[in-house]
Amino acid sequence: MKKGKKLYEGKAKILYAASEKGTAIQHFKDDATAFNNQKKSNIEGKGILNNRISEHILSSLNQIGIETHLIKRINMREQLVKLVEIIPIEFVVRNIATGSLTKRLGIEDGTILEKPLIEFCYKNDDLNDPLVAREHIYSFGWATAIELDWITKQCFRINDFMQGMFKAVGIKLVDFKLEFGRLNKDEKTKILLADEISPDTCRLWDATSDKKLDKDRFRKDLGNLLEAYQEVARRLDILHEQNNVRPIKFPKPIAVKIKKK
Ligand code: TMP
Repeated sequence: MKKGKKLYEGKAKILYAASEKGTAIQHFKDDATAFNNQKKSNIEGKGILNNRISEHILSSLNQIGIETHLIKRINMREQLVKLVEIIPIEFVVRNIATGSLTKRLGIEDGTILEKPLIEFCYKNDDLNDPLVAREHIYSFGWATAIELDWITKQCFRINDFMQGMFKAVGIKLVDFKLEFGRLNKDEKTKILLADEISPDTCRLWDATSDKKLDKDRFRKDLGNLLEAYQEVARRLDILHEQNNVRPIKFPKPIAVKIKKK
């Protein structure tokens, strides 16, 4: 797979041109940022885990008929993806109140929401990704009402699926962020799920202890981020590929002298 020029560099990923038209290589960095880049670090191995976890989730979603940009994972840090035009909205789905929701509205942390809540944020770092209403999205042409209704339905379907997937491995899916992109093909426009779904973009709590298994470990200085991401991968049964599996050394055969009678 030949890597072309850099198309875009974000806080945690880089997008490179790929040899086949309409595709790109999505590279996962080890950089961790929070509070719109005010807090930064580099956590060796984070990109590898996010690449694998995101591949697992997006390919599982593909299997239930949710089209995503993922074509395939090509190595430890990279995926081949369909090149889409990202809709400049972050779609945040919440099942339990925490993070910015509790700060903004004074809701008690950990409140279980009666039904999932969707929020729209305008993707703009200079403005700190502000929360916007549907009307802003229509007014400024970021998406049409038809597109937004369709994306909202997809977000809830993705939430249902992911909640079940994580519940099965003893994890609460607290909230997460999704991005979608437009793909123009044969004069038709299709909307695909894009970007990544990983512990960088989800809040994941252990079902019994509420231990945080996501980027809040970095945001809140809780430490052991890599161990938490590894735990998520281990529970999803996808960790084995991360290990440097050493070849098994068989003991040397012992020469046994057979005494002739
Ligand atoms: P928030 O509570 O800080 O608004 O975050 C809601 C969810 O969205 C949480 O799972 C983290 C995720 N998220 C991102 O993936 N990228 C971001 O830039 C932000 C602010 C949140």
